[in-house]
Amino acid sequence: MTIGNESPITDSEGVEFLQWCLPRLHLRWRGFRKVRRRVYKRLNRRLQDLGLPSVEAYRVYLEDHPVEWAMLDRLCWINISRFYRDQGVFRHLQHEILPQLAQQIVARREREISCWSAGCAGGEEAYTLAIIWRYCLATQFPTLCLRIVATDIDFEAIQRAERGCYRASSVKDLPTEWRAEAFVTIADELCLKDEYRAPITFMVQDIRERAPEGPFQLVLCRNLVFTYFDEILQKKTLQRLTDGLTPGGVLIIGNLESLPDGPWGIQPWSKRPGVYRKAPETQCE
Ligand SMILES: C[S@@+](CC[C@H](N)C(=O)[O-])C[C@H]1O[C@@H](n2cnc3c(N)ncnc32)[C@H](O)[C@@H]1O
Repeated sequence: MTIGNESPITDSEGVEFLQWCLPRLHLRWRGFRKVRRRVYKRLNRRLQDLGLPSVEAYRVYLEDHPVEWAMLDRLCWINISRFYRDQGVFRHLQHEILPQLAQQIVARREREISCWSAGCAGGEEAYTLAIIWRYCLATQFPTLCLRIVATDIDFEAIQRAERGCYRASSVKDLPTEWRAEAFVTIADELCLKDEYRAPITFMVQDIRERAPEGPFQLVLCRNLVFTYFDEILQKKTLQRLTDGLTPGGVLIIGNLESLPDGPWGIQPWSKRPGVYRKAPETQCE
């Protein structure tokens, strides 16, 4: 099968190439199976830019030009996202997780609930959290303010996130009244109002190398590390994620993701998959 009109890469060539190169990038084929055609499209453009006739020739090029691996890594950044993606998780956040975290923070007489959206793509996840907080919870916890740090390796994704304007298809899953409240229509886009932007700081950052300054009461790391990274990189990154959590803090991963084996100091929040909690601090007598 040939992939698209413009692409000379066949599916079997593409699969073989990805199965060869992904382990070298500490990425895993399983995560890319469904989205491989997106990578083929980018690969094809790269082959055209380099004037190479095939993925086989690109393989030789990679062997001869080690710096090209960084470009290939870039071709593998999958930035699919949308507002209120996997609604069940956000309902759980709204009705259970955020209220419980907020009560604990208030009980400690602290004033901030701090969150990290890791691999935030165009900001959809971080803004969804800001909308839920402001629209549904802020009045119950008037002394608390929400702070979100949202990071992604992709500079262009962070630029889109900072711009905060989206096509209707990106926000279609949000409840209608939230949409009406949080956005203004400008030309053919929906742009977030300032009050929903204010809590969020967007940053370009590679999660393989570092984490933003924490600690965080809530970390969302969905559809990145535990889908695309190999086990070695998952373990290294998970350590960074759990180190960034406060005692009692919550880590949320993607609906279809699971954690690598190991003693990570976190326990499932409930029977619901994908939500984990760091052990609370023990009080000395
Ligand atoms: C599939 S999106 C997930 C977006 C959002 N978390 C969600 O679930 O809707 C994955 C994002 O991770 C980013 N990414 C890939 N590698 C990364 C890395 N090493 N460090 C930080 N972000 C990375 C990609 O640029 C992309 O925007």
